Amino acid sequence: MALGSSCLGIGPAQAGDARKYPGKAVPRVHPQDWPRLQPPLPADPDLERRLDVLLAHMTPEQKVGQLIQADIGSVTPADVRQLGLGSVLNGGNSSPRDDKLAAPGEWLALADRFYAASVGGDAVLPVLWGTDAVHGHNNIPGATIFPHNIGLGATRDPELIRRIGEITALEVRVTGLDWAFSPTVAVARDARWGRTYESYSENPALVREYAAAMVTGLQGMPGTQQFLDAAHVLATPKHFLGDGGTRGKDQGDNRSTETALRDLDAAGYIGALGAGAQTVMASYSSWRGVKMHGNRALLTDVLKGRFGFDGLVIGDWNGHAQLPGCTAVSCAAAVNAGLDMLMAPDDWRELHANTLAQVRSGAIPMSRLDDAVRRVLRVKLRAGLDREVRPSSRPFAGQFELLGAPAHRAVARQAVRESLVLLKNRAHLLPLSPHSRVLVTGDGADSIAKQSGGWTINWQGTEPNQAFPHAETIYAGIARCVTAAHGAAELSANGEFHTRPDVAIVVFGENPYAEYEGDVPTLEYSPADKRDLALLRRLHSLDVPVVAVFLSGRPLWVNAELNAADSFVAAWLPGPEGGGIADVLFRAPNGTVPYDFRGKLPMSWPRSPKPPAVDDVAGEQPLFPFGYGLTYADDGYLATLPETLARASARLTRH
Ligand code: BGC
Ligand code: BGC
Repeated sequence: MALGSSCLGIGPAQAGDARKYPGKAVPRVHPQDWPRLQPPLPADPDLERRLDVLLAHMTPEQKVGQLIQADIGSVTPADVRQLGLGSVLNGGNSSPRDDKLAAPGEWLALADRFYAASVGGDAVLPVLWGTDAVHGHNNIPGATIFPHNIGLGATRDPELIRRIGEITALEVRVTGLDWAFSPTVAVARDARWGRTYESYSENPALVREYAAAMVTGLQGMPGTQQFLDAAHVLATPKHFLGDGGTRGKDQGDNRSTETALRDLDAAGYIGALGAGAQTVMASYSSWRGVKMHGNRALLTDVLKGRFGFDGLVIGDWNGHAQLPGCTAVSCAAAVNAGLDMLMAPDDWRELHANTLAQVRSGAIPMSRLDDAVRRVLRVKLRAGLDREVRPSSRPFAGQFELLGAPAHRAVARQAVRESLVLLKNRAHLLPLSPHSRVLVTGDGADSIAKQSGGWTINWQGTEPNQAFPHAETIYAGIARCVTAAHGAAELSANGEFHTRPDVAIVVFGENPYAEYEGDVPTLEYSPADKRDLALLRRLHSLDVPVVAVFLSGRPLWVNAELNAADSFVAAWLPGPEGGGIADVLFRAPNGTVPYDFRGKLPMSWPRSPKPPAVDDVAGEQPLFPFGYGLTYADDGYLATLPETLARASARLTRH
C-alpha cells in the first residue's frame, strides 16, 4: 500500500479532468494505493430492487429534485413540493421565522410542513432535513451543548464521544430533524485555521477513533436494531478531503503529498465509514490546486471505489460554485465528479432548471444522474423514511424536556471536566480551597458566547447569555461551588476588588468565530490588544495568586500570559456547562479532590507565533507536545518563558 515516489508529484491530467480544467494540471491520484474498506452494511438485494422500482417511475425533473438541498431561509414547503426537492437544511443563521430564538416547537412544526410537502401525489420519498449539530443540537436554545471538538480531543475518551453523539441525535429527533452535518474529521495541523476547534486533533489515529465513536453515537451501531432507528440521525463526516491540511487558510489549498492525504487527512473517514456513516460532505478546500468539489478521482474512485462508500456525497454551502466554469446556479462538473446532492441554499430553483437542462443535453450522463439519485434514495430508505410518519408523530418528537435534560447536561459537564488541560501549576496553587475568597475576572468569566465559540445558536456564536436557558457561566459555577462551602466569589469585569481576594481566577481568551472569520495570520494571542495580559500582570504585582483559565479554539502563543499566571488552564471552548471548570479547580469542602485534571493536549502548543512542526508541517519543536497535560500529582513548575518575538525565535534555533 506504500506509495512510490513517482506518486507524489503532479502527474499528467486525466482526460476527463483536463477538459474540465483547461490548462491546469490535475494532480494524479492512485486509487490502487488507497486501502480497500469493507462496508459495514452487507449488500441488500431487496433494497436495491426497491430502488430500481422507484427510479423506474421517476421523471428527470423528480430525479434532479432529489439532488438539490435548499436552505429553510429561502425555500418554502410549497417550493419543495413543486420541484420535488430531496432535502432542506438550516444554515448557521437560518431558523423558523428567521428567529434564532424560535422555540423548539416551531422547528418541529416546520419539519411537519416540509414533510407534508414531500409526501402524497407523485412525491418520491420524504424530504431529509440536515442541520449543523456539531457540538450538540447547537441551533436550538435550551438544547445540550458540548465542548467543541478540540476540547473533546483532550479527553481521550471515545466512549464519552459516543455518548455525546447519542444525546445529540436524540435531541435532534426531539425537533423532528433527520440529519447531523457532523462530525468534522479534519486533522488540523496549523492552528491559524479558523476551523481548528472543529477538529478533534492533529493526530490521525485519535481522529479516526473519535470519528468512529461519534458516528456510532449519532447513527447507532450498524447491524443492530438501533441503527438509524427513531432515536438516531444520519451522520456526516466532513469535509472530504484534506481541509485540515490547508496551512491555516479556510477553504485553502492542501499541498500535501498523496501519501499524507491518505495517511493523515483520510484517517477520520476510515473510522467514520467503518462505523457506517451514510453521508459525506465534500470540502471547500483544494488539493494541489484542484477544488475538492470537482475531484472525481478522490470523490468517486477513492471514496466510492476503494472505500466502498455507497451513501451520498453532499456538497458544501454553494461549494460547487467555486469550480472553474461553474456558478451557484449551474455546475454539471460537480455532479460528474461525484457529488450526489448539491447544497444550494438560495439558488435551488435555477440550479434545478440548469441541472435538468444538463441532463437533457447529455452534459450530465443519465447513468451518473441515476447513480446519484439511487444513493440519495438508498440513504432515505436506510433511514426508514418510507416507514416514517410526520416528524411530530415519531418517537421522542415533541418531548421538549429532553432538550437540555439534566442527564444530558451532566454528560456535557463531564466532558468539560475531562477536556481541561493544566499547563502550569506553580507551588501547587491548584486545587483551590472552596472556603476561599475568590475574585473572578476577565471578559470570559460571565459570557456563555465566549465559552461556547462559533456554531452556537447562530453561525458566529454571538448570542447574549439570555439565549441559553440552562446555561451556567464559568463565574456562576465558581460562585455556586464556593458559596456552598461558605467561601466568597466576587465577579469583577476589570479586576478591581472591594476586599482583597485569596486568589484570582482570570477567564479570558478568543472571541467567538466560525469558518474563515477565524483565520489568523499568526499564533500570537491577541496581538493588537494586551488588556488581558495587563490584567494578569496587575493582579500578579499585587501578590494575588493568579489562575488563568484560557478560552480558545486552538493552542496559541501565550508565553507572556503563562509567565504572568501562577496556574494556567487551557479550557478550549467548553460550552454552556461552565460548572465543569469549578468541579476541577476546587477541592470538596472536606478537603478531598473530587476531580483531577486528565485532559491531554490534542494539538502541539506553540513556542512562538509560528506553527510548530506537526506531521507534514515543517517548523520548530512545540513548547508543549501533543499529549502534554499536568495532574495535581505533578510538580507544575514552569521556568520563565521568553516573551519577545526575537527571543522566542532565538530559542527555537537551538532545537
Ligand atoms: C460549512 C459546513 C456546514 C455548512 C452548512 C458550510 O459553510 O463549511 O461545515 O455544514 O456550511 O451550514
Ligand atoms: C450560513 C452558514 C454557512 C455560511 C457559509 C452562513 O450564512 O449560515 O451555515 O456555513 O454562511 O459561508
